[in-house]
Amino acid sequence: MRIEVLDDAAAVAMRLADIICEAVQTKPDARLGLPTGNTPIAAYMELARRVEAGAGDFSRADVFAIDEFCDAARTTPGTNTMFYREHLAIRPRALHCPNPSAEDPAAHIAAFAEAIRRGGGLDLCVLGIGRTGHIAFNEPGSARDSRARVVALTELSRAAHAENFGSLDKVPSRGMTLGVADLLESRAIVVMVTGAHKADIVRAATKGPMTAEVPASWLQEHDDVLWVLDADAGAGLTAKSKE
Ligand code: GLP
Repeated sequence: MRIEVLDDAAAVAMRLADIICEAVQTKPDARLGLPTGNTPIAAYMELARRVEAGAGDFSRADVFAIDEFCDAARTTPGTNTMFYREHLAIRPRALHCPNPSAEDPAAHIAAFAEAIRRGGGLDLCVLGIGRTGHIAFNEPGSARDSRARVVALTELSRAAHAENFGSLDKVPSRGMTLGVADLLESRAIVVMVTGAHKADIVRAATKGPMTAEVPASWLQEHDDVLWVLDADAGAGLTAKSKE
């Protein structure tokens, strides 16, 4: 595991944009898993700027969502589908996102994960981390061998999305997610984290024991994981730069 602690959130966004651009330069038809959340928005804006300026080309790359809500329409504000429409203007060959209104979400997300596997897996998967240590929608309690499935969202996760849905009662109580085992099959993983409120969970995930209680701790098992942190998120670590 490598950890980079950068000065601030702006530096994390630039580093993320560099890493994602490099992935498509190396492999134009790269298959990228990209997360939602507040953390990646600045990086996605930078990527869009580069695409616009001709400095980035995603036209042969495939982008895959790593999770989605259940029990909503694709056009419901707050869904991940809407997030990508709003924030990810990089014009990939295709954006693959589970359908939040799928009638049988368990079968739907299992088929989604299977299609990723059949296509050769993800070349690069970018992840954020929730305050509880969740990755995608793998909430605490998610085992190392968990696969794509429907999950009950914690109240903390639902609250984090209240604003995007308009109010807490509009946030679905279930989500679909790639499982921990699915995410660990990605060839390379980058975790980006900013903010002092994530410092404790970053420390637990990177330095603590691997446990289902902190799903991000399973990433310690992967041999190509890079954590990109701002100084606030990295404040709980002793090393101040690359480890
Ligand atoms: C959400 C998403 C995750 C994301 C996380 C952190 O619930 N399902 O994929 O990484 O929360 O979000 P944020 O970047 O807003 O802190």
